[in-house]
Amino acid sequence: MKNHPANLRIAILLALALALATWAAAHGKKDWPAPEDAKKLKNPLAVTDASLAAAKAVFLDNCAQCHGEGGKGDGSEAPMYDVKPADFTDAHMMGEMTDGELFWKISEGRRPMPEFKKRLTEEQRWQLVNYVRTFAPKPAPAPKPTPAPSKKKSAPPKQ
Ligand code: HEC
Repeated sequence: MKNHPANLRIAILLALALALATWAAAHGKKDWPAPEDAKKLKNPLAVTDASLAAAKAVFLDNCAQCHGEGGKGDGSEAPMYDVKPADFTDAHMMGEMTDGELFWKISEGRRPMPEFKKRLTEEQRWQLVNYVRTFAPKPAPAPKPTPAPSKKKSAPPKQ
């Protein structure tokens, strides 16, 4: 048959795609992109002591068994899963995510993480967004002019 090589190529491509999909399913902990619309969602809640306290209770009930009381991803159930629960103390990772993205992920879940859109109210989920942000150290404040060692000590920083 003339088109044999083409079929073969397609078969190889399919096999490769399948292998990749299988690999991604087994190792696919990395990418969990939220839809662009979700990223742009604005957090309607202000951060208050009361709302953080409310969120803490919800977190301890629903999230800490996986994410850990301190948000490090080291809850008692964490070792049961091959995907490590997110570590909210990772300032870099948290810095890359918008509030909307966190809200979407909490709402939708991803195995083994359950979805919470039916278990928790919208307000509770936004409170959790604010709460999980308390685990990571705040991003460093605007860099202070550090005295350069080679310069004279008392030179005031120029503005
Ligand atoms: C059964 C364990 C489990 C529970 C319960 C759980 N999570 Fe997760 N969570 C995970 C795992 C595992 C991941 C990583 C998923 C992935 O990367 O595929 C994750 C990821 C996340 C992420 C996304 C971080 C990222 O890397 O993008 C957020 C936000 C989050 N969880 C918040 C919560 C909150 C808030 C709760 C409670 C309302 C909760 N989770 C409950 C296991 C859990």
